[in-house]
Amino acid sequence: MSQSPAAVIVLAAGQGTRMRSSLPKVLHAIGGRSLLGHVLAAGRSLGPDHLAVVVRHDRERVAAHVRELDPAAIVADQDEVPGTGRATQCALAALPADLSGPVVVLAGDVPLLDEATLRGLLAEHAAGNAVTILSTDAPDPTGYGRIVRDGDGQVTGIVEHRDASAAQLEITEINSAVYVFDAAILRSGLARIGTDNAQGELYLTDVIGQARADGGRVAAVRTLDAVVAEGVNDKAQLATLGAELNRRLLGAHMRAGVTIVDPTSVWVDVGVDLAPDCEILPGVQLHGATSVATGARIGPDTTLTDTRVGAGAEVVRSHVLDSRIEAGARVGPYAYLRQRVVVGPGAKIGTFVEAKNTRLDDGAKIPHLSYMGDATIGAGANVGAGSITANYDGVHKHPTVVGPQARAGSNTMFVAPVELGAGAYTGAGTTLREDVPAGALAVSTAGERIIEGWTRSRRPGTPSADAAAAADAADAADTAAAADPALTPPDPH
Ligand code: UD1
Ligand code: CA
Repeated sequence: MSQSPAAVIVLAAGQGTRMRSSLPKVLHAIGGRSLLGHVLAAGRSLGPDHLAVVVRHDRERVAAHVRELDPAAIVADQDEVPGTGRATQCALAALPADLSGPVVVLAGDVPLLDEATLRGLLAEHAAGNAVTILSTDAPDPTGYGRIVRDGDGQVTGIVEHRDASAAQLEITEINSAVYVFDAAILRSGLARIGTDNAQGELYLTDVIGQARADGGRVAAVRTLDAVVAEGVNDKAQLATLGAELNRRLLGAHMRAGVTIVDPTSVWVDVGVDLAPDCEILPGVQLHGATSVATGARIGPDTTLTDTRVGAGAEVVRSHVLDSRIEAGARVGPYAYLRQRVVVGPGAKIGTFVEAKNTRLDDGAKIPHLSYMGDATIGAGANVGAGSITANYDGVHKHPTVVGPQARAGSNTMFVAPVELGAGAYTGAGTTLREDVPAGALAVSTAGERIIEGWTRSRRPGTPSADAAAAADAADAADTAAAADPALTPPDPH
């Protein structure tokens, strides 16, 4: 195991102009986590004594994000002097003056960098290097700093694209902007860099040439996995790295025993937890702190956010937010669970059902076309098709309770607060305004009033009136036929 670094410094003060966005570049997300979040996680995985993040552009927003993700991180402010060298100086100023040992410097826009790559870099650095750089061979090195080596292959410095000679522009080994520096060498190097370059900025990369000139050992470790070193500069790169991250996450899940029928149409966030032998069908997105237990089947065409799915449960063509679907439960097709819905063991939420803040106990069912808000459905109860909770009076939300083994008939309207007792029934179309005791039947008694001939007199000349007239004529013909003795079959007795 490599040594833990004395500090990790994350540079995140740049604006990211090429993103053409009002959101600072490092706050754009892939895999459900900001670019900065990925870099912080990689940095923190090394167990540094200190972790500092340099901010400037949209300072409050980025600083708040850092505080939320990593409250122990030090937020260091960069002043108006531009450049990665200045940013690193500002970080050092916020760290203990007697800092010694390895210091890892990361750019906030390199999201696929992983712990293994960083550990490899630290191990290499421990051989006694002044600086160890993560480099890679880029098929198109345009825009990147180039690693310059002497005749013996020793690194002599880094030259930025805009400052490079024609010969240097031919170099394909690029600087990933991920480094390990010896703290003392970093401090003394930064004190001596200048702004004599095409951008008039203080370049961190100039410390490398300084260290070499001082007689220090400088190494560049070439990673063959170029994407771990790739930075995001625009939204096309954001999408490319997002897809690559997703491909890697799904690969790891499949190797751990998860069945994913079509990995090209499935998206998962970094925090998603999938048990072996769960099955993910095409067109599924799993976000946030979602977890799926073994034997559960998700999809096709389903989005789950911050949702826990128990063993053997099934969710088909549904949209679920912040909910729990217990073992053996079934949801969908076409269900919308908005938040805080608990579908108990073996319970069912069926087709075209919306639910919010609702709990179904063991084996309870809401099979079709219903809305349940702020409701509790007892074990084994059944809520008939088209039932609705009127849970909101415009000011307050009110609860609905359906007791265990109760049966709500089709189109029951629960005017909350209201309770249907254990084992109680409602007739179809009942509007429940008062509680129903256990074992009782509730029916709405308005009854049905029939006004004969209404369509003929009130809607004359309409297709409905024509249809009614035709039905009347057919009835009259039947009655006449029944009265004609010639057409009546003889009585067998
Ligand atoms: C930098 C490197 C280049 C390397 C490339 C890899 C320098 C001079 N160049 O160039 O060799 O190939 O990264 O992607 O270091 N930042 C600050 N403060 C600043 C400027 C930048 O904190 O004043 C931060 C940015 O937020 C970003 C990182 O430093 O996270 C890199 O900055 P960027 O402007 O993207 O540098 P590049 O031009 O890409
Ligand atoms: Ca960059």
